[in-house]
Amino acid sequence: MVKKYFIKTFGCQMNVYDSNRMAVMLEEMGLKKTQNQRDADVVIFNTCHIREKAAEKVFSDLGRAYLIKQEREIDGKDTIIGVTGCVVQAEDKEILKRAPYVDFALGPLRYFRLKEVVEEVFNEREKQLLDTEFSAVSKFDFLPENKSESGCSYLAIQEGCNNFCTYCVVPYTRGVEVSRPVEDVLHEARRLVQTGSLELNLLGQNVNSYHGEDASGRERNLAYLLNKIAEIDGLQRIRYTTSYPADVDDDLIRCHKEISKLMPYLHLPIQSGSDAILKKMNRRHTRDDYLRVVDKLKEANPNIGMSSDFIVGFPGETDEDFQQTLDVVNRVKYIQAFSFKYSRRPGTPAAVMDGQIEEKVKKERLQILQDLLFSYQTKFNKDSVGKVMSVLFENKGRHKGQLVGRTPYMQNLHAEADSSLLNKIVDVRVTDASTNSLSGEVL
Ligand code: 5AD
Ligand code: SF4
Repeated sequence: MVKKYFIKTFGCQMNVYDSNRMAVMLEEMGLKKTQNQRDADVVIFNTCHIREKAAEKVFSDLGRAYLIKQEREIDGKDTIIGVTGCVVQAEDKEILKRAPYVDFALGPLRYFRLKEVVEEVFNEREKQLLDTEFSAVSKFDFLPENKSESGCSYLAIQEGCNNFCTYCVVPYTRGVEVSRPVEDVLHEARRLVQTGSLELNLLGQNVNSYHGEDASGRERNLAYLLNKIAEIDGLQRIRYTTSYPADVDDDLIRCHKEISKLMPYLHLPIQSGSDAILKKMNRRHTRDDYLRVVDKLKEANPNIGMSSDFIVGFPGETDEDFQQTLDVVNRVKYIQAFSFKYSRRPGTPAAVMDGQIEEKVKKERLQILQDLLFSYQTKFNKDSVGKVMSVLFENKGRHKGQLVGRTPYMQNLHAEADSSLLNKIVDVRVTDASTNSLSGEVL
């Protein structure tokens, strides 16, 4: 019988990318994907440690996986349970103590060993394998060739972060910044396009600090890479995420004017609008630095839509600090954004700072911020009604005969469309809009 695998992905786009690469490895081993965890011989949870909630959720999922494993055993079926991702890196040996039925645990820089590890577990059932080494080798050198899963693919060009924002676990879970060489990225980009991708989203924890070497050993920046990738025939859309405001240089801003394939949407997290808080966060930019970058981007491409991440209730945040955040939102008028209550992460400097904010206050501030953000997002979406937008259809919709895709601005759009339009870019007239999605008719 063909063995099946099930991967559940938590957290960011980098995890989605990593999960896809693990899927390719398992397929090469002859396993087939299943959406039903009960059918799976290999179950993998690719985890996120960014906020407490995400990290804790994994353990309830693991508990459930163990129950399913026991039920399958009654039917004489074996199940391998694996955990990968940032929780593994952060919890290390603890994860095997807390979930002793886990067969293997691989950190985000070590999953290139997946094949050998799964094989070893298949052969020697009782072992609990753990690998959280912060290796000097690049995992990308050991992964099999990537292939496109749909019309839109992620491509990791950089990993890790040297910024050490005081709230953030990333430098501890993904390690220091590493940029992949230019030729490696181009090779993977071409392959993804050859296998069906029309859109590439270049990923990195701090993507615009990219400084990979070209074939002659010279360091190249993100702008150089974007220009090279834009030359790939058949590729129609390019995005990159997530950017750090202090590392947006003029070359990159020029790309938004000159590269027509670059989508008019940029996720540029500010986190807080208060200089005092930004300083405590160890961000290398002020509120004005940030607003200047946004102005330059809008000058380069007047149609650009901005997105951001925000944290409310960071230690010491006063009402005035919070007002400054609202003020930035009113200036930039984000078309989309993510906002979070500050979550104390063990081992990070902010976790032990004075002035921790009460949950009640965090909750109130988050509500106020989200109401404001949603009002701008809704307005942007409503203003789209009547316009014709190019949409890349990525999935089947909830209703029969419907497809769901994305506009250049990352808005979700659903329309009645034949499934032959799946993974194609099509002109659609927007007919209706709400806070989170658009509907339209295919032209
Ligand atoms: N608490 C709340 N939000 C956080 N983020 C990162 N660390 C924390 C934390 N400790 C948010 C930031 C980041 C996004 C990925 O998650 O806004 O940009
Ligand atoms: Fe975390 Fe982003 Fe700061 Fe890096 S740049 S430490 S990922 S918030």
